[in-house]
Amino acid sequence: MNRNKFIRTCVVGLGVGTLVESCASSNYYATHGIVDNHIVINKSEFTFLKDKEERQRPFVLVKNEKLEFPICLYQFGPTEYAALYLQCTHQGCEVNPYHDYLVCPCHGSEYSNRGKVLQPPAENNLKQFDVRSEGETIIIQL
Ligand code: FES
Repeated sequence: MNRNKFIRTCVVGLGVGTLVESCASSNYYATHGIVDNHIVINKSEFTFLKDKEERQRPFVLVKNEKLEFPICLYQFGPTEYAALYLQCTHQGCEVNPYHDYLVCPCHGSEYSNRGKVLQPPAENNLKQFDVRSEGETIIIQL
């Protein structure tokens, strides 16, 4: 499913339980800890079971009281991540993450899953946090 069709399906499908579930299931808030100015997340937060098969989420969300907006943590490989702050750089709305891109509901800006502007009116990329992999954990520097 291409991204425009996916958005239409999610928006149109708000009254249909299975579609809501399939759209909403991509927005998983990860359990995490705080150590000093670091958010610590277990890599297993990306894993879930569906039809008795282990699957990987493309991203998880992190909401913490230190931040006004959530962080979207995209996974590109076992040790490669991007931690994007979900505040649109146009006028500050919260952007919505999808599989490999993000969309601002206010004026339609789009960003890649690496935070780069794909579609104006936003002119600046999303703010990113430094993120690193250590064993079975992911550490985001606030
Ligand atoms: Fe996001 Fe305007 S605030 S596009």
